[in-house]
Amino acid sequence: MRADSATGLPGEVHVASTPGAVAATVADFIQERTPAGAVQDTGPFAIALAGGETPRSLYERLSAEPYRHVIAWERWRVYFGDERAVPPDDPRSNLHMASSTLLRHVPIPAHHIHRMRAEAADLDAAAAEYAQRLATTLPAGAAATPRLDLVLLGLGDNGHTASLFPGTSALEVRHTWATRGEADYEPRDRITLTYPTINAAGTVLFMVTGDRKRAALRAVREGTVPAAGVAPHDGELLWFIDAAAAESM
Ligand code: 6PG
Repeated sequence: MRADSATGLPGEVHVASTPGAVAATVADFIQERTPAGAVQDTGPFAIALAGGETPRSLYERLSAEPYRHVIAWERWRVYFGDERAVPPDDPRSNLHMASSTLLRHVPIPAHHIHRMRAEAADLDAAAAEYAQRLATTLPAGAAATPRLDLVLLGLGDNGHTASLFPGTSALEVRHTWATRGEADYEPRDRITLTYPTINAAGTVLFMVTGDRKRAALRAVREGTVPAAGVAPHDGELLWFIDAAAAESM
């Protein structure tokens, strides 16, 4: 995969001045992928949402004008990159964050939203259930892997992404599409997409902002952290980062 000449990151890198500009650029990118009233390509658009704080401003932007009315929400099929082992109404839940900023504000039918049941007592069983849901609701890509159209990801300070944390067993999982994750901060128990699922996507898009992410971006470039394992087999890898995160790359 070609490295960006300026930053050395794999794939294609877009640097914007501020976190707000990153959110606006990604919102435009997503709108272009699912325009309302499009004659061509009216099929399902399967997107895995990222958790954490960075995508919050993107989701709020998408739920407001003009995006609210220029995106073909009826095409969207919503999945999650990961989820914390908390109830869905817990403020720490990624579903809770995505619902409060986007999903409750746009006309996506509830049955097109596929949440991870990470509050389950048996996380392994819940992860296996989600893997099955991916397999039965998405088209099969390479090696019969469920194929998402777009996976949104963040980058942790330690170079994790989704809930693929350094030194954890989830990094080694290749035989299934979702698995148990282990964070190094609360809530520690997670469910996460695995590398095979992420790398089978048509597009993987990282949103990274803030100076505290500089070291993690450098570590991605050096290939020493979990986010460096994101390398779509036949899809595109895109980075949308702000100037603060990109500085001294
Ligand atoms: C989560 C996310 C996680 C997040 C990174 C970055 O559940 O927390 O999936 O991978 O994307 O930790 O988080 P911030 O965007 O809050 O910096």
